[in-house]
Amino acid sequence: MLVLTGAGISAESGVPTFRGSGGLWRSYRAEDLATPEAFARDPRLVWEWYGARRDAMASCEPNAAHHAIARRRPGPPALRIATQNVDGLHAAAAGIAAREAAVGGPGTTEDATSLLEIHGSLFRTRCTACGDRRDHRDPIDAATEASLPRCLACGGLLRPDVVWFGEALDPDVIGTAFEWAETADVCLVVGTSAVVQPAASLATVTLETGGAIIEVNPEPTPLTRMASVSIRGTAAGCVPAMLDPDGGR
Ligand code: OAD
Repeated sequence: MLVLTGAGISAESGVPTFRGSGGLWRSYRAEDLATPEAFARDPRLVWEWYGARRDAMASCEPNAAHHAIARRRPGPPALRIATQNVDGLHAAAAGIAAREAAVGGPGTTEDATSLLEIHGSLFRTRCTACGDRRDHRDPIDAATEASLPRCLACGGLLRPDVVWFGEALDPDVIGTAFEWAETADVCLVVGTSAVVQPAASLATVTLETGGAIIEVNPEPTPLTRMASVSIRGTAAGCVPAMLDPDGGR
C-alpha cells in the first residue's frame, strides 16, 4: 500500500491547508513567498514567513491518522508513505511509534526509509551556495538580512529545504515515489486536493499499473471518479479504523 498524503491529514493537528477555507493560499500570494524569484528578491521576507510557519508548528502534534499510519502492525500489507507535507508530522508519529514499540506498545513495521517527503521539510535547510542539507530546528531570526541562517560548511545563505513553485522535485525522491506507486496494490490518498503535479499522478500510476485508489477527503477531488472507494470524512475520523480495525488492541 502506498499512502499519499496532503495538507488535509494535518488539518486536525491544527496545521492550515493551502486551498480550503482558511488555507494559506487564500491569505498569502505564493509568488511572493514560495518561489525562487521571491527568495532572490527578498530572502528576509521569505524566511520570516517560513519561520512563522515553523513557530506555529510548535503547538501541533501528530493526530490519530498520522499515528495509525505509523503504528501499522507487522504483516501485510507493507505500507509506504509519500507525503506532500513539509510539516514533519509523519516523521514525528513514526518516532513515537518506534519508541512505543521498544517498550512493548503497538508495533510498527516501518522505518525512516518508508517515508518520502516529496516537497521537502520545514525543518531542513539547504545552502544556496554549496547545497549542504541539514536538519535545522533553531528559531529563525529574520530581523535583518544579516541575521538570516548561514551554512555551517561554507557560510552561504541557507534557504528552507522545501520545493517552491517553478522548481523541480528531487529526482531520486520522486523517482522512488513513482516506483512505489507502480508496485502498490492500493494507493490510499488522504487529505490532498490532488491538483498539484507530479504528486497527484502517483495515484493514477497505481491505477494504470493494475492497483486501486482509495480516497479519504471531506470534499470530492479530481481523483474521486477514479477511486474504487471514496470516503467523505476526515483523516483522523476515518484512517485509524481503516488501517487498524481492532483499534490497536
Ligand atoms: P490543499 O490545501 O490543496 O488540499 C487540502 C485537502 O485536504 C482538500 O482536498 C481538503 O478537502 C482536504 N481536507 C481538509 N480537511 C481535511 C481533514 N480533516 N481530513 C482529510 N482531508 C481534509 O493541500 P495539498 O493537496 O496538500 O506545495 O496541496 C498540495 C501542495 O500545494 C502542497 O504540498 C503545497 C501546496 O502549494 C508546496 O508547498 C510545494
